[in-house]
Amino acid sequence: MKIIFATSNQHKLKEVKSAAPEGFEIISLKEIGFEGELPETHETIEENSLEKAEYLSNKFNTACFAEDTGLIIDAINGEPGVYSARYAGEYASFHDNVNKVLAKMKVMETRTARFKTVITYYSQGSFVQFEGVTEGIIPLVQIGDNGFGYDPIFIPDGSTKTYAQMTMDEKNLFSHRKKSFDLFANHLKLITV
Ligand code: IMP
Repeated sequence: MKIIFATSNQHKLKEVKSAAPEGFEIISLKEIGFEGELPETHETIEENSLEKAEYLSNKFNTACFAEDTGLIIDAINGEPGVYSARYAGEYASFHDNVNKVLAKMKVMETRTARFKTVITYYSQGSFVQFEGVTEGIIPLVQIGDNGFGYDPIFIPDGSTKTYAQMTMDEKNLFSHRKKSFDLFANHLKLITV
């Protein structure tokens, strides 16, 4: 089954391709000739995920899925949350965002946090959503060079490594994105038998 993933984030594309079960071919926006920015104008992860999937499905008149992800840190009132991509400013780099989190967390004793991903599958005017959450902690400093975004400052429960110290296969054992994708893939299997 071929399915379009509405993301222009190459890291996410790689991860989802590596997590897709046999029989699923993930098609990127590049492959369908879409080069613009996807809209992301809402205050919740659920709404942003839906907005991206609906926009692309309507534009290309086909079924597709999108995802939105946020890092939610307890000690700083759930920040960066829905603003994870632009936490340190509109054109902030991953590095800027990580440094802003570490600066805010410097004096915090409570280090608990979670990654939350919501995948929206949009087809023929209706949609369904799948949530994946991974609990973890924020270390005092960044550790590791793999992955992207906040990977160097997130240690998932059950591991002593940050996501950025893991291979993609290792990250997939814990990953919020993989959890939501597995639920989505099961749904697709059910509706296509
Ligand atoms: P988006 O709005 O869903 O594209 O993602 C928001 C931001 O969250 C991204 O720009 C990344 O900085 C961060 N992010 C999303 N997924 C991950 C992940 O798996 N690891 C680390 N950071 C992530």
